[in-house]
Amino acid sequence: MPRRFERWHIVVAAGVTLVLAIAAIVVIATRSVPARVVASDDAVVVATEDERRAPDAVVVDVTLRAAPTSVRIGDRDADTWAFNDQVPGPELRLDAGDVLRARVENRLPEPLTIHWHGIDLRADMDGVPHLSQQPIAPGEDFTYEFVVPNAGTYFYHSHVGVQLDRGLYGPLIVDDPTEDLAYDREYTVLLDDWLDGLAGTPDQALSRLQSEGMSHGDMGGMHHGAGETADSPLGSDTGDVEYPYFLSNGRTPDDPEELAVTPGERVRLRMINAASDTAFRVALGGAELTVTHTDGRPVLPVETDAVLLGMGERYDALVTLTDPGVFALVASAEGKDGQAVALLRSGAGESPPPDVEPAELTGRLLTLDDLEADPAVALDDSDPDRTYQVQLTGGMHSYEWGVDGGEVDGIPMPVREGERVRLILENDTMMWHPIHLHGQPFQVQVAGGGGPVKDTVNVAPFDQVTVDFVADNPGAWMLHCHNVYHAETGMHTVISYVQ
Ligand code: C2O
Ligand code: CU
Repeated sequence: MPRRFERWHIVVAAGVTLVLAIAAIVVIATRSVPARVVASDDAVVVATEDERRAPDAVVVDVTLRAAPTSVRIGDRDADTWAFNDQVPGPELRLDAGDVLRARVENRLPEPLTIHWHGIDLRADMDGVPHLSQQPIAPGEDFTYEFVVPNAGTYFYHSHVGVQLDRGLYGPLIVDDPTEDLAYDREYTVLLDDWLDGLAGTPDQALSRLQSEGMSHGDMGGMHHGAGETADSPLGSDTGDVEYPYFLSNGRTPDDPEELAVTPGERVRLRMINAASDTAFRVALGGAELTVTHTDGRPVLPVETDAVLLGMGERYDALVTLTDPGVFALVASAEGKDGQAVALLRSGAGESPPPDVEPAELTGRLLTLDDLEADPAVALDDSDPDRTYQVQLTGGMHSYEWGVDGGEVDGIPMPVREGERVRLILENDTMMWHPIHLHGQPFQVQVAGGGGPVKDTVNVAPFDQVTVDFVADNPGAWMLHCHNVYHAETGMHTVISYVQ
């Protein structure tokens, strides 16, 4: 008996060993098979788009011709690059669920791609050179075609080099036919900082920053950027580049656009910051702003005097001007000298001067903590499946910037479809950065939860912002600073879907 018992033991032990060995081999096998990175032209990208596209979807056809041109900036002619010879480019407008089919003719002397900023679109139409597509060569054409799934205020712009700081941008407005927001009229206000053709080119501005950075390399903290301010939530150094003009819908404050309104009606303002190196603090003289959307996504309406828009951010607000008159919508360049102005005219009256400073500009300034996502777009309160600590690095000394969320097996920030992903954006630099994620929005995690759903968020110097997103749009997606000079000198990385 004892002997048989022993033998039985041995058999069991051998069996267990064999099972463990097989298990080990399986574990090793799954570990050593590297995760498969989902490329932008992967079958799963196409399948996801097929699910989004209704068989009877309306197709909106547009043509954007990018070419050198001359535009009127104030009382000067500026040689620049623009879409369809206008700055901003034409407003593209469609309904949620429609298909945008944009034929792009590149008549620039450089390659081009167009990014549809904030749209949750198929990865191969996202317009990032070499990541989502090969750039469109000079003289070539390319047709973008994708479903625009969600309503909101967006814009489109070149995603090559520092071309954004030319005139290569325009508004993209997506209506929700079922939206219950009540208003009588709406205007799009697209803000920009302008130097092209009047103070060199963006490429010259970039090489100036790089050579200044070199020569200031051993001056420690002595470098001063273009934007100096004592009391901005963005810190004391708000920008690197000097701009002769700040524009609202392509117009200077000397020659402001007049937007007609009727006393008492509710006007929706869609404000977009398409600048390259300038944040704008926006206020309307004579009325408060009721903010309804951030970066196209609805929030619980909240009243404020002023909003601060980093590059790439959008805010929608309702305003009501009860009296007849002329009211200045002022976008003050944060920490810089100058502003962009548009006028809301509800009656006769003299226009305010170009340097008008409405009291509201220094009134209540909206913060992220004031914003709560509309339940229609809010994430649930589940815990993240995956968290990345994302380091923002760099400085003026050598004019090099970076963003690093780490890698797994050589793959930058892998995520799997269906996961809830948390990014802790940690700014280790002396400047603020508007951080933009392509392909899907995130919800800002504010104290008490429920922060706004956005695609671009400002991270103040040495501050930290946590955002969560649900990985539901397979592809390779850029995460970068929307200061085009920071992005161009290294402040960009990729979030990689893997299978
Ligand atoms: Cu509007 Cu990658 O940016
Ligand atoms: Cu930056």
